[in-house]
Amino acid sequence: MTTAKESSAAKGGLRDVVAAQSSIGDVNGEKGILIYQGYDIHDLAENSTFEETVFLLWNGHLPKKDELEDLKKQFQANYKVPTEVSEMLKTFPKDANPMDVLRTTVSALGFYDKEGHSTGREAAVKTAIKLTAQLPTLVAAWERIRSGKDLIAPDASLGIAENFLYMLRGEKAEADEARMFDIALILHADHELNASTFTTRVIAGTLADIYGAVTGGIAALAGPLHGGANTNVMKMLKEIGSEDQIDSWLDKALEEKRKIMGIGHAVYKTEDPRATWLRKFSKQLGEKKGDSSWFNMSQKIEKAMLDRKGMYPNVDFYSASAYYLMDIPLDQFTPIFAVSRISGWTAHILEQYGNNKLIRPRAEYIGERDVKYTPIEQR
Ligand code: COA
Repeated sequence: MTTAKESSAAKGGLRDVVAAQSSIGDVNGEKGILIYQGYDIHDLAENSTFEETVFLLWNGHLPKKDELEDLKKQFQANYKVPTEVSEMLKTFPKDANPMDVLRTTVSALGFYDKEGHSTGREAAVKTAIKLTAQLPTLVAAWERIRSGKDLIAPDASLGIAENFLYMLRGEKAEADEARMFDIALILHADHELNASTFTTRVIAGTLADIYGAVTGGIAALAGPLHGGANTNVMKMLKEIGSEDQIDSWLDKALEEKRKIMGIGHAVYKTEDPRATWLRKFSKQLGEKKGDSSWFNMSQKIEKAMLDRKGMYPNVDFYSASAYYLMDIPLDQFTPIFAVSRISGWTAHILEQYGNNKLIRPRAEYIGERDVKYTPIEQR
């Protein structure tokens, strides 16, 4: 093994290892810049919609009017999940974790997609459309089922963000809230080779099917060091309870070497550009709903972590209070991440299929060698 390999392996976590060439997105961690297919995330958040951003991620260019209309129609025609899958949801234990439910049902969706095992671009795009259209339906359906409410059929006249909030709550969202949610979906859509996207590429690289790759992506996203952090941020805010408890709570947590959820990032060493938008939404929603306590607490924690550790909030920090103020249950924050990230996962799967090579790195062996077998009686 080369010295370079040894040093990067010893660092752990494949940090700074370039594992693929991709034109989908790029993260500049020093400058806090995120781009999708060359477009700055701020430009997209300001001007685009989730549907348009998905087109961009999959195709490498912004759609013309008819291309966008066509994609929207295809999403809307696919909002409904197969009845077998919605019936299956009803059989799950009501205390099942929503990410576990999503992982299992996405895997099951594959049974009902005849072309779901094809790795050709045309069929794979069709499957990507189905998954992007149906993840929101699965997440909303599980929320309704576990809380004993009737399922709300998707409204094919609505876009993905608005339709999701409608299916979840049973009433249409106000326009400003629907737009905030739409932007939140844009912000979470892709993030280069994060843990879940890398997982999907590794699975797709074996030429396994998209459902398998996305199921693996969901499993990776669920972890508290990845997408699971947003739920834990809200739990932390509730545990702290009020602004005046923050300093003593942080003293203790940092002394115990606990990781403060929603703070720090493997790549960003400055402000995560997605946090800029979510901070604004947390503030606006707090003002609108007459409860700015979560935003105020978050801001104080942000400042304290910057002063004490020089660390910045990541995407999960302010999305927590923003989603909470949208009446979204805590353990649904991570499934919502998946509702957006499905676009990035599928973009990477399409890219992987398009120029595939099995992903098979090496390990730096640090175990013993030349050990002789000892019969069991002699050990
Ligand atoms: N709170 C307190 N300390 C933190 C921290 C946090 N959120 N994140 C990192 N640190 C500290 C570590 O304890 C470590 O300190 P040490 O050198 O004294 O041991 C140092 O910073 C480096 O941490 P490390 O975990 O090696 O950095 P990383 O680049 O691998 O971590 C994360 C990236 C995201 C995994 C990490 O910041 C984290 O766990 N954050 C909280 C979870 C989270 O919000 N995840 C969502 C990511 S979008």
